[in-house]
Amino acid sequence: MEKYIINGRNKLFGSVEIQTAKNSVLPILAAAVLTDEKVKILNTPRITDVRNMVKILTKLGCKAIYDGDDILIDSSCADCYEIPSELAHELRSSVFLLGSVISRFHTAKIAYPGGCDIGLRPVDLHLTGLKRLGVEITEANGYIICKCEKLRGNEIMLDCPSVGATENIMLAAVKAEGTTVIKNAAREPEIEDLQKFLNCLGAKVKGAGSSTVVIEGVKNLGGCEFLPISDRIEAGTFLVAAAMCGGEVQLNRASAENISSLLHKLRENGCKIHTNNDKIVLESNRRLTSVKSIETQPYPGFPTDLQAQMTALCCICHGQSIITENLFETRFKYVPELRKMGADVTVINRNAFVRGVEGFKGATVVAHDLRGGAALVLAALAAEGKSQILDVSHIDRGYASFEYKLRKLGGDIFRVSI
Ligand code: UD1
Repeated sequence: MEKYIINGRNKLFGSVEIQTAKNSVLPILAAAVLTDEKVKILNTPRITDVRNMVKILTKLGCKAIYDGDDILIDSSCADCYEIPSELAHELRSSVFLLGSVISRFHTAKIAYPGGCDIGLRPVDLHLTGLKRLGVEITEANGYIICKCEKLRGNEIMLDCPSVGATENIMLAAVKAEGTTVIKNAAREPEIEDLQKFLNCLGAKVKGAGSSTVVIEGVKNLGGCEFLPISDRIEAGTFLVAAAMCGGEVQLNRASAENISSLLHKLRENGCKIHTNNDKIVLESNRRLTSVKSIETQPYPGFPTDLQAQMTALCCICHGQSIITENLFETRFKYVPELRKMGADVTVINRNAFVRGVEGFKGATVVAHDLRGGAALVLAALAAEGKSQILDVSHIDRGYASFEYKLRKLGGDIFRVSI
């Protein structure tokens, strides 16, 4: 077990390079199973979720090796359609492999996926979509078992715009016979990135980024080298860190467009933000004004993955805010930890009612999930005195070199083994 020790109140200054998006790399790695040709994914982030996905690919018989930060995948020797339960439990995105594994082997067996404990996270939309493509599904002893003679394109209407279901159906449809149309598809930038990757392999996918994605099945796919987009959630986390601590921070390789909902809120808080090509600069004088309300929504609305970080910011703003979580049921688990640091927050159902206090005070707190854990780190960086953040393994799932990057900006943060 490892923990962070943080001495707060340092302002943050300098620039930080944003990592490649976790939520792009994971489905792209899953997609690599679809082709027999070699694939190279460039500049991948060194995070546990990506390492676990690579382990799963290896279990499936693919050759997947690191070359620095690039990952080389040769799926020509893939020979296994079962995703072992110990790995599926580590990583929710293992469910994306259903689409590509069923496409490749016409059979797939996967243990129910894991990931952050932030609510029910059902996979019914993934399964309904696959059934529409001709897949027969049975569920037994914690496993989902899929079989099909042939995948056939169809029209699929999602009950809600699920990111994972949209991506999974895209993967299953790429080599299906005929055309698949996904309606009410999720519109996240990572879905557009997956489309770009699939088309680089020779697939015929269009419409990603809008609510209708059309996939015309092709017989064969080739190889390619691909650099996925930058991580908008990591970018957002560093911006909120700078807003809370005060100072001036520049993000390199960031997309302002992909986090415009966050930039809008941070400007409302009183931060000065300038954007130029792939750079975002944020200036903050530390004591900011509350935004009245934030509601998480599917893209392009405010991302649920930045909800915890923004709530932490609201806790030390002047005034009151209401944060509403519309996507995941139990995504306020970090709130009792923030209260230990002096926050005045009450959670009722899906709403957090925040009354701004002068500042956080250092405390020992526990990271229960990835983004909630990141929010606690930001709170500790802004807090008066010393904090300890326990169980940082959750944070390692999504942030590469987190403490190193924060330290480079002036944060007093160290990782310690216990
Ligand atoms: C993805 C992201 C995650 C982000 C989330 C929402 C990846 C690897 N993860 O997760 O970081 O927080 O999008 O932006 O890309 N739902 C169902 N049935 C289903 C599937 C989803 O009811 O079969 C519901 C969920 O409970 C949730 C909503 O749909 O309320 C959105 O979930 P979804 O978009 O599927 O999130 P993930 O793909 O799991």
